[in-house]
This record gives sequence, C-alpha cells and structure tokens, in this order.
Amino acid sequence: MPQPFTLLQLSDSHLSADPAASYRGENADANLLSLLPACRLLAPDGLVLSGDVAEDASEAAYERAGKMLDGLAVGTAWIPGNHDDQAVMAPVFDRLGFQAGPLLEWGGWQIVLLDSAVPNRPEGYLDEARLAPLDQLAPGRPALVFVHHQPLAVNSPWIDKYPLTEPERLWARLEPETVKAVAFGHVHQAFSGNKNGIACLSSPSTVANGQPGSARFTLDPTGPKARWFRLWPDGRWLSGIVSAG
Ligand SMILES: [Fe+2]
Ligand SMILES: [Fe+2]
Repeated sequence: MPQPFTLLQLSDSHLSADPAASYRGENADANLLSLLPACRLLAPDGLVLSGDVAEDASEAAYERAGKMLDGLAVGTAWIPGNHDDQAVMAPVFDRLGFQAGPLLEWGGWQIVLLDSAVPNRPEGYLDEARLAPLDQLAPGRPALVFVHHQPLAVNSPWIDKYPLTEPERLWARLEPETVKAVAFGHVHQAFSGNKNGIACLSSPSTVANGQPGSARFTLDPTGPKARWFRLWPDGRWLSGIVSAG
C-alpha cells in the first residue's frame, strides 16, 4: 500500500505585531508554540494555513508566523482570512516559499486554495474569478478544497453570523466523485459534517476556541488545536484533531 501524504491544517493563529498581545484572554504566540511539538510528531508533508494568521494584519505578525512555521512541513500553503491583509502577507510568505495556489498537487491529490476574504468584512464571498480554479480540476482525481469561511452552518450562533455568503455558488461547482472534503477555519472549533456527499471539516484555532453551540463566544478550556489529514493517492483519507496536551 502506498504511503499516505500527511497534511496539517493550522488555522486562526491571530498573531499581533506585539508578541505579548492578548487574544480572547490568550497569548497567540505561546499557544501556537505549545502546539508545535505535537504537530512535528505528525511529520507533515504539507502544511496549509487556513486564514486569520494575523489578528492585526501586521507585517511583524506574518514574519513571526513564518519563523515559527518555516520547516515544519516539506511544503507550506496559505489562504487569507477576514483578519488578514493579503497585500501584507503575500510578500512575507512569498519570500519563505509558502504557496498561495490556487491549485497544488500533493500526494496525488488536487489541493484547492480559495480566497474568500472580503476587505473590511467579517463574512466571506467567492466571486466567479475566485471560483474559477474549481473548473480546472481533473475529474475523478481526489481533491481537497480549502476556504477560510464556513460553507455551512456549524450551529454556533456567534460565528454562524459570519459565514461564507451565497455558499450555493461553491456547492454548485463541487462534484463528490472528485472533491472528497471541504476544509475551513474561521469557526474556532472542531466541526465535522457532510453536504451533498462531501465531508465538511473545520480546523480549530491555534490560539482560542469556542465551546460548540454557544450563542456568544465562550472559551473552550481544552486549549489550542489543529487538524490533520492522511491522503492516499487512490482517494481514501483520514482526518483528526491534534491538541497540545
Ligand atoms: Fe479567526
Ligand atoms: Fe475568520
């Protein structure tokens, strides 16, 4: 049996220019660092940063993220979140060789990186140009789609207020024979669901997660987390959550 490709998804690190800044009462740098030993044990072949890398869209935050994450995986890719500024993060990550896609080939899988961020808006949107990479997918070869905003409700009212708007524009382009899963961030909790025969999975945040089902953000005391995938070239896959503890 061929070796699977190990993909690690890190999301919503919310680093600030000031390394001592508080994010929802937590320290973004310390919590991300606390998660890294467990992430290294997974020996990821690929790392996807699924947005909200920075809280303040500062160059200093992206530089520190780059320092902390450079070398964690063989290849690193990223998409922006609503708190990011692509114009600031792209030069920093380009210098490190981090990839923005929108289409990558990892382990025989097609990895799609969709930018759903809308300047100065907490919710997301995919216009025709941003959806276009999906038209280039080779049918029947397994694909994994990353997008920052949740394309379905996760049943937590505090964050379901800010979803991917008009998600049917995305769903209309996804064929379950090809797209095995849609992975997102933004929701600051682990979520696992299914729509149209396609798995819908979130990565929790590396700094602060909310308790599922909450009307208002209520800190989950179990700490920072991330999501891993094992991808086999024949389309089989597994996924789970890694935590710092
Ligand atoms: Fe976030
Ligand atoms: Fe977000």
